[in-house]
Amino acid sequence: MRALAILLAVWTGTACADEVAEAKKRWQASPHGPMLERILPPTFSVQHLPDRDTRGAKLVVAYCVQCHNLPNPAMHHAEKWPGVVQRMVLRMEGRGNMGALMAEMMAGVNAPGADETRAIVAYLQRHAQKPIDPARYPEVNAASGEAFRLACNQCHVLPDPQRYTAAEWPRVVARMQENMEWMNRVVGSKPTPGEPQLALREINAFLARHARKPGG
Ligand code: HEC
Ligand code: HEC
Repeated sequence: MRALAILLAVWTGTACADEVAEAKKRWQASPHGPMLERILPPTFSVQHLPDRDTRGAKLVVAYCVQCHNLPNPAMHHAEKWPGVVQRMVLRMEGRGNMGALMAEMMAGVNAPGADETRAIVAYLQRHAQKPIDPARYPEVNAASGEAFRLACNQCHVLPDPQRYTAAEWPRVVARMQENMEWMNRVVGSKPTPGEPQLALREINAFLARHARKPGG
């Protein structure tokens, strides 16, 4: 039984990965491939999805890789997801903005039904980002919180520092730096030549001051 379960798990994992690879080949080959490629970073993949055997996770894999890389449920906070998904569903139905661009891709694109959309939203919300509570961390609005405040709210809400320990944060911040480069976003204020654009030290120091205690 156990061997069968493992075999099945491996098989489903591969099937999902194949599905994603197929979809990616299709949108990458479109005339808008380079633009679509940069909408979301490629660093988050099916293996990283939480509860990936649930219906919600499978629906995200089935529908949300048709035009860009896989979205991470932890990218946005729960309140934000319904609006984002609605915008995406309209596109999948061929009724969204960027009409001309999307129309060229629409041939192979499937849209979820109302019930599936609800399952997708519920799944994304269940594993969503938790925003920082400024009442608990007033420093976020002080000068010493500025580097974090400016850099980290460009693509999503400011994350709760308690999500990780001080030892874990720098690796997440480094990935975010890659995300910024990937997504071609402007980072903070205008860079002075020769100076690092992102105040990594200040950001990591802010997060470390309020991070989760190891084992806590
Ligand atoms: C028909 C093509 C298409 C499909 C399918 C699609 N998207 Fe998108 N998505 C886009 C386009 C185009 C953009 C960039 C413009 C924008 O942000 O609206 C985008 C941007 C995004 C972004 C980054 C912008 C933001 O608001 O954070 C997220 C996250 C996202 N999509 C999530 C999803 C999810 C979740 C699904 C599945 C329910 C999905 N997408 C399915 C076309 C699509
Ligand atoms: C250019 C857009 C962008 C900026 C700016 C950005 N992020 Fe993100 N963030 C993302 C994307 C895309 C994801 C989902 C993919 C991923 O996890 O890499 C994400 C996810 C996250 C997550 C949840 C994922 C996890 O592993 O816990 C945290 C926490 C986070 N970001 C923190 C930060 C911090 C701290 C900063 C400031 C240094 C920052 N982000 C700046 C795009 C960005």
